[in-house]
Amino acid sequence: MEAQRDQWATKLGLILAMAGNAVGLGNFVRFPTQVAQNGGGAFMVPYFIALFFLGIPVMWVEWVAGRYGGKYGHGTLGPTYYLMARESLKPRSAFWFGVISGMLAFSLTVLLNSYYLHLIGWSAAYTYFSAAGSYFGQPTGEFFSNYLSNHGQVMLFWGITVILLAIAVGQGVSKGIERWVKVMMPLLYVFAILMIIYIFTLGSPVDPNWSTIDGFRFIWTPNWSYLGDHLWQVMLAATGQIFFTLSLGMSIIQNYASYLGPKDDVALSGIATVSLNEFAEVVLGGSIAIPLATAYAPKIVPPDVLQQGKTAALEWIGQKFGLGFSYTSLPNVFVSMGDIGRLFGALWFLLLWFAGFTSAIAMYNYLVAMLEEDMHIKRSVGTWVIFLVYLIAGLPVIYIDGYMDQVDAWVSFQLTLLAFFDIIIAVYLFKPDNFWRELHEGAWIKVPEFYKWVTLYIAPLLLLIPMIGYFKPLVQTTLEWPARLAIILMWILGAIESYYAIKKKYKEELDKNEVI
Ligand code: PHE
Ligand code: NA
Repeated sequence: MEAQRDQWATKLGLILAMAGNAVGLGNFVRFPTQVAQNGGGAFMVPYFIALFFLGIPVMWVEWVAGRYGGKYGHGTLGPTYYLMARESLKPRSAFWFGVISGMLAFSLTVLLNSYYLHLIGWSAAYTYFSAAGSYFGQPTGEFFSNYLSNHGQVMLFWGITVILLAIAVGQGVSKGIERWVKVMMPLLYVFAILMIIYIFTLGSPVDPNWSTIDGFRFIWTPNWSYLGDHLWQVMLAATGQIFFTLSLGMSIIQNYASYLGPKDDVALSGIATVSLNEFAEVVLGGSIAIPLATAYAPKIVPPDVLQQGKTAALEWIGQKFGLGFSYTSLPNVFVSMGDIGRLFGALWFLLLWFAGFTSAIAMYNYLVAMLEEDMHIKRSVGTWVIFLVYLIAGLPVIYIDGYMDQVDAWVSFQLTLLAFFDIIIAVYLFKPDNFWRELHEGAWIKVPEFYKWVTLYIAPLLLLIPMIGYFKPLVQTTLEWPARLAIILMWILGAIESYYAIKKKYKEELDKNEVI
């Protein structure tokens, strides 16, 4: 056991950091998009099933794995999963499980950040544009594409974002990350609640036939017939969303949990993380974009679609949802609000920026921990090494068309693959009884026994849905050489890194290769 490892200073700080990790662009942009594209209330049924039978158990698995690795001084996946797999396998076989997990984790983090950081940068830019009223009185679609083609400006807001991230991460876990999230997360909830109070009083701002209530009704009326007709599609979207929103299959929950003390509670804390994320998703995330879009539908939906009725208009909005929606259609709404729209727009984009920032801190810390623990590079230096890595990895996103979508197709699949590894290694190879015992070590609650069965059998089955579902588009996506090169390069680097990290520390037992 290593004595010098940083630990969370306070319980509140830990919980807010974990909430910050989970609450991201996924809650405020991706969630409403998925709801809108998958039949509104039809989506919510499999969504809650996936939450209880997949999200919650995998969250516990990752907390348990992270605290376990931390006991041995590891905040990265390679060595942690080596140690866990060694409970059932000989060191040399366990070694390969460690290497592959470490490789998947490293490549995911770098690849995802190549564009995630840009999206956060866009939010910074749009906070400024909203407050300054820059897009007011202009076609917002054109404004957005002009912004994107101005690379200097894009890099400026990227730079502001990533330099602040580097400063926060450079200060360490308890003195940096924990302090930053303690300010940002409460503000994030306050911003969202302020916006929602305004939205609830909005009613029908444009046309008496269209109100915010239409949006709420769309989300909260179970639509069984839509669900029946598109069962696979909706289940896939729902399980995929649960995954993404809870930050599972990324190795960053484990990384944050590795800074716990060996007897700190994980059972209640895991549930607290899930609850804070879900509140920010279904309650807050569900009450902003969609209700606004329906109340302002006459302003953003083309007249011929409007004439076909509410369902058609909502479907149209659904298709327009997504990134483009946030940066082009919602700005139209802010413009329609008049002067208060500048304030409201700035609040919305600042909210997105905070949400993205506190997730990006976790991923940044994973990579810095890797340099610190596995390669003995000082945190203050490692932070800037990763800055350079991010800078280089982010360039193709700006300069190569289609690159972001191609990489994204891989990332989505790899996330589910790594979560599958979580269950295989941190539950099955670690041995289910060990897992259950660890979950209750120092626990503040007793988890009902049936959750053990859920974790062992139901969660992996549900996980097959997105694994299969994301595999198909992956095969159909043509990867051009830049994306292919980036993916392969990150795999190689990740594999080499975890290979040496485990080898160096556990050389003796690997040489003996005896069951421990
Ligand atoms: N959970 C984050 C969100 O909801 C997204 C995320 C996924 C962040 C994976 C990091 C890693 O936006
Ligand atoms: Na989330």
